[in-house]
Amino acid sequence: MPDPVSPTAVTLTVNGETRVESLPANLLLSEYLREHLRLTGTHVGCDTSQCGACTVLVDGLSVKACTVLAVSLDKSRVVTVEGLARPEGLHPLQAAFQARHALQCGFCTPGVLMTAAGLLRETPRPSPSEIRAGLDGVLCRCTGYENIVAAISEAAESIQAAAGGDAIWPS
Ligand code: FES
Ligand code: FES
Repeated sequence: MPDPVSPTAVTLTVNGETRVESLPANLLLSEYLREHLRLTGTHVGCDTSQCGACTVLVDGLSVKACTVLAVSLDKSRVVTVEGLARPEGLHPLQAAFQARHALQCGFCTPGVLMTAAGLLRETPRPSPSEIRAGLDGVLCRCTGYENIVAAISEAAESIQAAAGGDAIWPS
């Protein structure tokens, strides 16, 4: 049986930067992002796949980073909340969250944003019920979700209205 902490070679692209790493085989993606790269925007609320605060994009799909081993993602592209904004300013999701006051304490917000990013990549014009279904598994203890759903709807509209909507997603 392989040693779970023996170093394993892996190549990962995180927020557009490719890294060749040698990581313990049992290192979670959330630990890699927070403790190795100091990308602490990826929050850890439960570490048991319940809260969604650790959600990031892996190859364009939203994934709970506490549920996946970093070494299992060889040659994958990971985007964290730090990679969501664009050089010219906030991503439309972030701008809509700010405008709609879609956060209070903000602990859940990175995970909600990245879950919403994954949702809008797959479903560019989600209905409110589709947004609520997409947020299943992402817990917010403060907002009651109303403003979060409104902000995601607003962001979807503004992304669709923008020229070259696909270019809006980081990879
Ligand atoms: S920390 Fe990953 S789901 Fe809660
Ligand atoms: S804003 Fe506080 S947990 Fe969501």
